[in-house]
Amino acid sequence: PHSLKAHAMDARMLFGFAVNIQKLRDDAGYRALVEQQCSIIVAENAMKWQALRPAIDQFSFADADALVEFASRRHIRLRGHNLCWHEALPEWFSRQVTAVNARQLLREHIRTVAGRYAGRMHSWDVVNEAIEVKDGRPDGLRNTPWLQLIGTDYIEMAFRVARDADPSALLTYNEYGIEQETQEAAMKRAAVLLMLRRLKQRNVPLDAVGIQSHLQAQPAYGYGAGLRRFVQDCREIGLEVFVTELDVNDRTLPSDVSARDIGVASRYRSYLDLLLPERNVTAVLTWGVSDDGTWLNNGKDRAREDGLPQRPLLFDDHLRAKPAFVAVRDAFDAR
Ligand code: G3I
Repeated sequence: PHSLKAHAMDARMLFGFAVNIQKLRDDAGYRALVEQQCSIIVAENAMKWQALRPAIDQFSFADADALVEFASRRHIRLRGHNLCWHEALPEWFSRQVTAVNARQLLREHIRTVAGRYAGRMHSWDVVNEAIEVKDGRPDGLRNTPWLQLIGTDYIEMAFRVARDADPSALLTYNEYGIEQETQEAAMKRAAVLLMLRRLKQRNVPLDAVGIQSHLQAQPAYGYGAGLRRFVQDCREIGLEVFVTELDVNDRTLPSDVSARDIGVASRYRSYLDLLLPERNVTAVLTWGVSDDGTWLNNGKDRAREDGLPQRPLLFDDHLRAKPAFVAVRDAFDAR
């Protein structure tokens, strides 16, 4: 079989992409690839507040509805991303949301969105990126608008409302910057675990952790025992682990395309070899389908010094499989 979903299934896992709704609609090749390769998908942007909330008293569900239809007609599982985040908030947010209405607004949003798709979602990223050790709080919580407007219990509230709205979706906490063997990542892992343990102790409904996995390609970047231990710690508190946004930043690799593709592939392989032996890791999704759509080519700080576009994903601009595709396939086969 030439599909990653088949190799993933043999490894008792789900595989998929973050998808772009526009492309899914307009590009038949893109759509065919998604159908061929994926047992699970997630919207790269279409289920964020910015996309769903044109105004404080309004929802726009057309794109999200279309995605849910697309996935369920093909029996592709769907992740929801996300119900509560400090980014991708609509432009009216800072003007119209205050300590008086924030709690009610978040509650209403989760009820409405998770409720609309209840029974049809594999999982929801209920809270995204709520930890930032650098913000200096003893609990490690990021100093977000939600924290400022509602208080520290916004996380617990979000999960409880999500469970009520859709009892069948796996409720996930999703985080980045917890992958490396650096002091910084180790501190962030510790803060995330502390928060997850506290939530579990309070019987907050929580089923899984998403490790985003925006990786660096250069071999000097270590991914290792600290992350492996984190996954084991998650299992001990009863949590599944999803690799939710996997891609490989090739900024520091040489310009030569084939050398870069091999470097990127080898990072995919070694990263999955590290995680897949842990049986609570049950899904892998890359953050995009093909290199031309990657977020890593938007924004100066992520650009390569030689000005060439990054090649972080499994398929090239012509939707041809790259060495990284083979690397992921082989990693599934090795499980
Ligand atoms: O849709 C609007 C459009 O209406 C508007 O005219 C245009 C003008 O800027 O912006 C469009 O929104 C853009 C959106 O992508 C949809 O294309 C935003 O500017 C742009 O900032 C946004 O970027 C996304 C980013 O999250 C912020 O939401 C990226 O595509 C997406 O890859 C990225 O994904 C995040 C995950 O959600 C969380 N983890 C990190 C990951 C990478 O940053």
